[in-house]
Amino acid sequence: MSETKQIGGGAPCHVAIIMDGNGRWAQRRFMPRVEGHRRGVQSVRRVIEAAAKRGVRYLSLFAFSSENWRRPPEEVSALMKLFATALHKEAQAMLEHGVRLRVAGDLTAFSEEIQQSIRKSEALTEHCDRMVLTVCANYGGRWDVVEAFKNILKRHPEVAAHPERITESLIDENLAFDWAPPVDLMIRTGGEQRISNFILWQAAYAELFASPTLWPDFDETDLEEALNWYSRRERRFGMTGEQIQALGEDK
Ligand code: FPP
Repeated sequence: MSETKQIGGGAPCHVAIIMDGNGRWAQRRFMPRVEGHRRGVQSVRRVIEAAAKRGVRYLSLFAFSSENWRRPPEEVSALMKLFATALHKEAQAMLEHGVRLRVAGDLTAFSEEIQQSIRKSEALTEHCDRMVLTVCANYGGRWDVVEAFKNILKRHPEVAAHPERITESLIDENLAFDWAPPVDLMIRTGGEQRISNFILWQAAYAELFASPTLWPDFDETDLEEALNWYSRRERRFGMTGEQIQALGEDK
């Protein structure tokens, strides 16, 4: 994972989104919360297309967190159904747009039907290379780091006797979505300013954009606003502003 390549804003290579505000969107309209999630799927479709058009290469969406199982059982079950149907329907659209679908998270907790639908959708779009969409389902940033350490010990048992061999790149390679570069821009909709255990390790230097728009209302214009804001950011990666200016002049 090379951080220095992305100095100086421009277009983000990897955008991660915490899609928040579905419940509030529905409650404000005296509708059941699940209606907000349903409308949220339409925003997912709009944002995938808009991000691909803007040249984003990796888009990661927080669809269901490890903690979302704590919601009322009716909401969890409705979310599961919605997820299975949306995956099936959207995979075809992704294929047409050249978008590769990948799913990251502990999938063992999902029904066999959902796991099968995930595998089929991933296989269908395997050859697409315009953009990689990672849907994070039963995902948590801490879970990801814990699993990475388990993977390291399984794949490289000698490390247990040589902890000095644990490096940042070894951890990178063993994370759930080892296919994506670090997150450049993390967007949270719905007005809150929390990371909520979404991507942690790979978002160490992400720029954070909090949008007041509730996810079901989030559209191309909102994404555009976040991308324009990002393009004006100076990314320092621990250096000083002067050092960054000098690096820009060297190019
Ligand atoms: C947070 O809003 C949203 C979720 C927990 C679910 C998001 C899921 C989708 C939009 C479906 C995704 C489907 C695919 C295929 C990617 P909230 O309920 O916490 O909203 P609130 O803060 O207003 O209560």
